[in-house]
Amino acid sequence: MRQKVIAGNWKMFKTVSDAQELVRELKDKVQHIVKTKIILCPPATNLTIVNSLLADSNIKLGAQNLFWEPEGAFTGEISAPMIVSTGAQYVIIGHSERRQYFAESDDTVNMKIKSALKHGLNPILCVGEMLEQREAGITEQVVKGQLTGALAGITADDMENIIIAYEPVWAIGTGKTATPQQAEEVHAFIRKLIAELYQDSTAHRIIIQYGGSVKPDNAAELLGQPDIDGALVGGACLQAESFSAIIAAAEEQQNI
Ligand code: PGA
Repeated sequence: MRQKVIAGNWKMFKTVSDAQELVRELKDKVQHIVKTKIILCPPATNLTIVNSLLADSNIKLGAQNLFWEPEGAFTGEISAPMIVSTGAQYVIIGHSERRQYFAESDDTVNMKIKSALKHGLNPILCVGEMLEQREAGITEQVVKGQLTGALAGITADDMENIIIAYEPVWAIGTGKTATPQQAEEVHAFIRKLIAELYQDSTAHRIIIQYGGSVKPDNAAELLGQPDIDGALVGGACLQAESFSAIIAAAEEQQNI
């Protein structure tokens, strides 16, 4: 059985002092969690302080983005080695907000994935269709294009270090969640595609998270689907109460 992995994408929220307060509260609420992997992805400005607060905890740290060059004259960007130096082990890559507002393409996502892996970071690769694409019946085609583009040149060994997050764009921050059946359908499709691109064992092991308005009241049903191995949570991860409730739902699934 695959481990459930719950990641919190803070997006552009929380100052340094807000971050400290949230992490202290959250640590307390999840200290009994042993089966679920928990990852926090705060803004880059909070990585170092959050890492020091997580030192003796069961929570891992991730960044939200990187630039593919290791260093150089790229004002405003941060690189994989810089993220590693904060203590983070994960990085979200290809989030739909970055594709939409910062012109990320499958090619740049691919370069970012390669840079993350080269420097020992575990990418959380986001894919997902827009509403018009779902309505046009091309969800699978879109997701397949994003995955094959992002994974070009990535080996089966590399895949052991990658998490995929399926996030239908129409469900992000809208309060509209995909139904567990809609989500499961795409997750099963992704797993089948990974088996075709790599091997059955790769597909069997890979963690595929669902993201898009995951809340305490819908988490259990989503996480109960056979191919949904976790959640990438936005809005509901900004309060310790709601994020820990989602983590508790994941833990509960593994006790069944
Ligand atoms: P949401 O965000 O939970 O606020 O919909 C999810 C995400 O963008 O990762």
